[in-house]
Amino acid sequence: MAKAGGAGAGVRRPLVSGNWKMHHDHLQSIRAVQDLGLRLGAADVASLDVSVHPTFTSLRSVQTVIEDRAIPVALGAQHCHHDDQGAFTGEVAPPMLARLGVSLVIVGHSERRQFFGQTDEVVALTVRAVLRHAMTPILCVGETEEEREDGETEARLTAQTTAAVKGLSPEQVAGLVIAYEPIWAIGTGRTATAEDAQWACAHIRGVVGEVAGAEGAGAVRIQYGGSVRPENAAELIGQPDVDGALVGGASLEAATFAAIVQAAASVVLTGR
Ligand code: 13P
Repeated sequence: MAKAGGAGAGVRRPLVSGNWKMHHDHLQSIRAVQDLGLRLGAADVASLDVSVHPTFTSLRSVQTVIEDRAIPVALGAQHCHHDDQGAFTGEVAPPMLARLGVSLVIVGHSERRQFFGQTDEVVALTVRAVLRHAMTPILCVGETEEEREDGETEARLTAQTTAAVKGLSPEQVAGLVIAYEPIWAIGTGRTATAEDAQWACAHIRGVVGEVAGAEGAGAVRIQYGGSVRPENAAELIGQPDVDGALVGGASLEAATFAAIVQAAASVVLTGR
């Protein structure tokens, strides 16, 4: 059963994504996805989508395991360049990911923005590049602790969302995934309250509505990310505008990640 809550008339199927960040070499990644495959049954994924996002060096190995064992998770990447090819040493181009069977790409993660200088402009270009190759961007937005304390959360979310979404067609917007990831909650164990997550996701949906129309706003899936664990996943994903989770640390162990997926599935099945 998909989700119809929140602003707009859309019906949305939640997405639970595991961002492995710079963890797991390709052998560890193979083991992790095999383990996940043993833990996730058809019932767990009947009502939602699941994706894993290994490092570039693990993508091919994980893709092979997923395909070989028919594991019901989508393959995702953590980043890409916005050009299709070129003299950009160390970068990976969107068509290379598409060729590997990648269907989702995280774009503008706060760690890319903070440590690698990714600007709103580059994020917008990358969203378009991912869409151009028929993959789904997971656009990350979120405020710093300082911005939160200064009462700038709303303005920050508005600016980041607007910069990335402006100019996209209604169909493109409807197919997007946005992840609300407050930076102060990432890897800190300080999860946003369900009320805060709901408020922020509803605000982002409202911004999408203003920039791109009600149809896209009703359909766009908005995840929450930041210290999601099996114990708090159901309450967070139970919020009407929270359409899943982007999970970092707790996605590395298959048992923990599967428990988050199962918590999410239970809340989707029982309605929220
Ligand atoms: P944690 O779940 O480790 O807080 O990380 C969240 C995140 O950044 C996912 O992209």
